[in-house]
Amino acid sequence: MNYENLFSPVNLGALYLPNRIALAPMTRNRATPDGIPFPYVAEYYLQRASAGLLISEATAVSKQGSGYPIIPGIWTAQQIEAWSEITKKVHEAGGKIVLQLWHTGRIAHSSLVDGQPVSSSAVAPNLELFTATFEKVQAETPRELTAAEIAEVVADYKAGAEAAKAAGFDGVELHGANGYLIDQFLRDGVNHRTDAYGGSIENRLRFAIEVLKAVIEVWGSDRVGIRLSPFGAFNDMSDSDPVNHFVTILKALKELNLAYVHFAFVTGVNEPDGLKTFREAYGHNIITNGGYTAATAEADLAAGLTDATAFGVPFLANPDLPERLKDGTGLNEANQATFYGGNEAGYTDYPSLSAV
Ligand SMILES: Cc1cc2nc3c(=O)[nH]c(=O)nc-3n(C[C@H](O)[C@H](O)[C@H](O)COP(=O)(O)O)c2cc1C
Repeated sequence: MNYENLFSPVNLGALYLPNRIALAPMTRNRATPDGIPFPYVAEYYLQRASAGLLISEATAVSKQGSGYPIIPGIWTAQQIEAWSEITKKVHEAGGKIVLQLWHTGRIAHSSLVDGQPVSSSAVAPNLELFTATFEKVQAETPRELTAAEIAEVVADYKAGAEAAKAAGFDGVELHGANGYLIDQFLRDGVNHRTDAYGGSIENRLRFAIEVLKAVIEVWGSDRVGIRLSPFGAFNDMSDSDPVNHFVTILKALKELNLAYVHFAFVTGVNEPDGLKTFREAYGHNIITNGGYTAATAEADLAAGLTDATAFGVPFLANPDLPERLKDGTGLNEANQATFYGGNEAGYTDYPSLSAV
């Protein structure tokens, strides 16, 4: 098949992509307890540098936002140094990489974040979480952030954006999806605040906009993206009216001239016309993700529904995914047992075509 759109270049803000294939952000828990990515993480990203854009695994902006064991961070000199090695390798291979900035909010155990987890409201997620010593326990009830503390978290994101720049990234993506802190403000299933950060959708959006503006001061709007999951139920999330709420969100985001908005949901499954509705409301560049094949990605691109497609699990298991999609070659199967934690096995040892 001729995937003419998938293999055409595009500019997402200041980011020039030689093809429309992005590596979706994927947490792999290959970092020290101090949030320093292991040296072989550079090899993982380097192997995938033929993507139009690499989006890094979610990376915590602070200890408070680091709710899983052995995830990377971007708030210490050692973390920045390790990331610098990674961006250097990617650039040497001609690739581009943005850092996904993360604060896990209530998806955190107190043993990891040095104190009671925080969120938009004191609403516990009904799920089990890992402690610092890898025990699985029921999630605790988080503490509602005060307005003054919200300003501190915004400053942490800004510092994370500055650190990402120091580490040589090409831009940043805010993790506003999958039930983490930004999503905990956006969605009314969790956000029960009665101040300026809760109630109306405009108020629930306030925190995300403040973070975006802070990060834009560092990078310029054309190197900043945000990931959203309007229909996501992961991490015990819900929203009373996702389509209308996210249309309002997108209309507000449009004013910021971002590099892109990145949607994580399966087109046609969560909400049949969701993508079309969001595309019309937003109008600027978007990346779509969730269950895509080369054929469905090409179809959405050809229909003008999206500008680029991110691949998660297929890219995890196929370091040379763009080449394989182009040639129609079969794909390696992903091994779920090595998704989270471990070593190079199931991480940097998936064969590429040249090695088969
Ligand atoms: C191992 C793994 C880790 C993930 N970690 C993240 C993450 O750090 N940030 C994020 O936004 N999404 C994360 N996701 C979601 C993926 O980015 C993507 O949305 C999902 O895999 C669906 O896309 P796919 O069907 O192409 O795999 C993760 C998914 C997997 C399988």
